Amino acid sequence: MRTRLDHLVTSALQHGSAVPAFTCYDFTTALAVVAAAEEAGRGVILLVAPKTAATPNGMRLTGALRGLADAAAVPVAVQLDHATDLKIMADAVAAGADSVLADGSSFPYEENIALVRAARELLGPDVVLEAELGGLAGDEDRAFGADQSGVRVAGLTDSAQVEDFVSRTGAELLAVAVGNVHGKYKGEPQLRWDVLQDIAVRTHIPLVLHGASGIPAEELVKAASMNVGKVNFNTELRTGVLSTLQEQLPAHRSDGENLQGLLGHWNHSAASFASTTLATLSR
Ligand code: 13P
Repeated sequence: MRTRLDHLVTSALQHGSAVPAFTCYDFTTALAVVAAAEEAGRGVILLVAPKTAATPNGMRLTGALRGLADAAAVPVAVQLDHATDLKIMADAVAAGADSVLADGSSFPYEENIALVRAARELLGPDVVLEAELGGLAGDEDRAFGADQSGVRVAGLTDSAQVEDFVSRTGAELLAVAVGNVHGKYKGEPQLRWDVLQDIAVRTHIPLVLHGASGIPAEELVKAASMNVGKVNFNTELRTGVLSTLQEQLPAHRSDGENLQGLLGHWNHSAASFASTTLATLSR
């Protein structure tokens, strides 16, 4: 069923939970994620990666996710993730996204604010905006594309900027950089809970933790207590699907090129990861 992403997240936080958001490059994964959410009786967020949105079929996939979200038995929101291009934001909203991460985190501070304000101006008051302050290292679509000082320079969120940033952007959610990275962590993740705590006391809007793949469950369960209401996953979901496909491919090729059977394994892998994550975040 249709829901506002900020309402979904706020209501989860009121119950001491966070809502997982999963990057869906394809419809099979999205079907599995929504089925897992229905099974758990919990809301969920489907993320469209900006690289997907920019492909010729990106808006068709966004529209298909919208249809899936509306038909679901639980609240499901569709968000365009990490967007910097205003035209893609407008196209995604027209195609059915109800939320956008207007991500100016790689820009200087004032330009970051300007991007979020321009997105608001363009998209209007009904589209839920997430903004990001502080730079996450890593690559959104590659698990180990760079060492984590590589693609983007990491910088923790400066908690002293939070109040000003939130009030001037008018964003409904704030993505933070507290040692989290996109893709695989080098060694154990070292999340700066002290910085997160400091951010959480400076704003009442829900916080968002990107780069959650690889963060142990016993760490993730602490998130909601620090006002982190949305937790983003991509790498771990893909890793699971790809290793399942690699394992199952030879037998399914021998079995009369059985693509349908293979898709069943794909679905099962994605649904199991989503179920485990939904359970962890609602502990
Ligand atoms: P991971 O790929 O590290 O899980 O990050 C996903 C993410 O933050 C999507 O916005």
